[in-house]
Amino acid sequence: MKKTVAIIIICTMFLTTFSCVGVYGQKSDIQSGFEIVLNGVKTDYNSVIHGQTHCVPMRGIFETMGASVFYRSRDHKILVLTRDGDIIEHIIGDVTMTMNGAEQVFEHPSVLENNEAYIPIDMVSEALCPDEISYDNRQLSIQKYLFMSDYHKMIQEVLDVCKDSNFYPEQFQRYINYHIKMPAYTVREAVFRVNLGLDYPFYENVTTIGQPYDLLVLVNKYNQLPSDFEQYNLVNMNRAYTASDAKQYLLAGVAYEKYIEMADAARNDGLSMRVVSTYRTENYQRSLYNNKVRATGKVNADNYSARPGFSEHQTGLAVDINSTRGSFEYTAEFRWLQQHAHEYGFILRYPKGKEWITGYSYEPWHYRYVGVDAAKIIYEEGITYEEYYAKYVSVNEFR
Ligand code: DAL
Ligand code: ZN
Repeated sequence: MKKTVAIIIICTMFLTTFSCVGVYGQKSDIQSGFEIVLNGVKTDYNSVIHGQTHCVPMRGIFETMGASVFYRSRDHKILVLTRDGDIIEHIIGDVTMTMNGAEQVFEHPSVLENNEAYIPIDMVSEALCPDEISYDNRQLSIQKYLFMSDYHKMIQEVLDVCKDSNFYPEQFQRYINYHIKMPAYTVREAVFRVNLGLDYPFYENVTTIGQPYDLLVLVNKYNQLPSDFEQYNLVNMNRAYTASDAKQYLLAGVAYEKYIEMADAARNDGLSMRVVSTYRTENYQRSLYNNKVRATGKVNADNYSARPGFSEHQTGLAVDINSTRGSFEYTAEFRWLQQHAHEYGFILRYPKGKEWITGYSYEPWHYRYVGVDAAKIIYEEGITYEEYYAKYVSVNEFR
């Protein structure tokens, strides 16, 4: 929520003052500036003059004003979550700043000085909405009335959770909205659920997967394969491992090798594993899904069958073993898989009790290859792939 602000910016005054000092432009094009006073308290921060404008250290000032500041070194992007609930994005050296997705262009860029990002004073005015910015006796003074409403208390709680857990800055507003909508959940639970996408119903707020060929690709009801996606590197499975001689069963290369290794190990233990479904084209998935809808209705079909574009069978990394009946759960093969699948990089993808996360009924027969490292963590922590993903894979790089 924005207050009406009365801002007095006196950059011109700074400039006049500094042009008299005469250091400008000699060694570096950055001059040290004034002491900064925040809400009446003198700080250790100093401003700098750069490109003929007054710049202030972003992190120190924003954090003092109750915001959280995050930095991504890869592209020098700064992200600020403010106590007003705003998301501010800025790349050091740029003249633009984005506030809640809306880009604003400024006259002067920010600058990196002694490893600190300094932003022009007019960016501060836009981002923090201070009540006053003024200059007095070589001191820059920024005032912002930090009252503590219930709303601000709630934002503070969300910020605290963001600081010490996995969070996605671009979802800040969703955390806030979801926490307001579902007060029965703690802030931490709300953040966790939003990280899984669960603040939207299944098949809403769908993202097209950016790297569909990645081994760790997450395909679910929020993440759709691109329409031109086509798995290459498919291997035709040896008949000794398939349920039917009449059909072709394909798996993506590395998943194929590990599957064979796993099935051989099970065979050595006196068990028989044969695949009943592996790679599917989008069209084949469409016909499976449509048949299910025709037979049982859409609501029921959605519990069992993925819509075309949303099935991880299309990646060639998923496999259905022996039978797609619930009774598979009571076989020795299932028990063996429960103990050993992770050793070969496979996970039970749709476990019992986690339907609210995966969006699918329990499927004891459906395994997904994710590699040994991920499978081990998922097995040890007893989590779904969605939870693993939110916790470990797409961890934001902002710190
Ligand atoms: N049965 C799984 C969810 C699929 O259709 O991909
Ligand atoms: Zn399956």
